[in-house]
Amino acid sequence: MELRHLRYFVAVVEEQSITKAADKLCIAQPPLSRQIQKLEEELGITLFERGSRPVKTTEAGMFFYEHAVQILTHAAQATSMAQRINAVDKTVRIGYVGSLLYALLPQIIYLFRQRHPDTHVELIECGTRDQIEALKTGKIDIGFGRLRLSDPAIKRLLLRKERLKLAVHKNHHLAEFIDTGVYLSQIVKESIFSYPIAPKPNFSTLIQSIFTELGLVPKELIEVREIHLALGLVSSGEGISIIPESASEIGMKNLIYIPILDLEAYSPISLSVRNMDQSSYIPDILECIKEVLAEEGKQVQLNDD
Ligand code: BEZ
Repeated sequence: MELRHLRYFVAVVEEQSITKAADKLCIAQPPLSRQIQKLEEELGITLFERGSRPVKTTEAGMFFYEHAVQILTHAAQATSMAQRINAVDKTVRIGYVGSLLYALLPQIIYLFRQRHPDTHVELIECGTRDQIEALKTGKIDIGFGRLRLSDPAIKRLLLRKERLKLAVHKNHHLAEFIDTGVYLSQIVKESIFSYPIAPKPNFSTLIQSIFTELGLVPKELIEVREIHLALGLVSSGEGISIIPESASEIGMKNLIYIPILDLEAYSPISLSVRNMDQSSYIPDILECIKEVLAEEGKQVQLNDD
């Protein structure tokens, strides 16, 4: 059995049609049917129910499918890893979520560049969820994100739990809590802007899950495209917003930032790498992270997440 046979089989299961699978694979339909038949003969297993439309996978076929997907994923990972090791130029591709540019990521990357001038750094903006696929395909080598998403092929390290703050207009009635802080239960009746709208899950999903964890249902949670829109609307007196504390550096006019007192009100900042990756840029970047966080007086966690 060759990997291409597994690819053919996986395409037929996923498309539930020989015709669509053949289109997807850019091959003709008769050779695809023949290859599937040969695979069934070789395995001694009926993979698809005869005459079913759409094509229905048998129970044994579904079991084989789960493993075929894993084998193909491992093969793709092994290829991209070997290509990385073989590469003559030392390039590290770093995926990051945009909001980390307000946090300590720029300082960390800057330090890394100074310490390792022979390594070329490429920065690629990429949502936390998309980072998983990008790591597997070799599009990025390290991902910095804000969500807890797991995948068996990815190792994730929690770097820091960043506190969340409430952004309000300086004349808003909640402004009096600037020194004492507020609990989320005090703001459920407010219009709250969260961001971004897509792709999900994202920072907005995190905010919703914190309310849910606390058993709270905000009356009006309005999703907008990005943080600048959320803060601009707050600055116009339209509502309030919840942001990572580092984003208060954006410095939009007439806004103040109130601490949120619930322990659950934090955004995890984590680093993701491929499970099997033993490259030296990983300990090197961890060194830079530790150093910058210590300089800024932030507690470093460095736990498996
Ligand atoms: C931080 O702001 O704490 C941070 C940002 C990126 C990577 C690590 C830490």
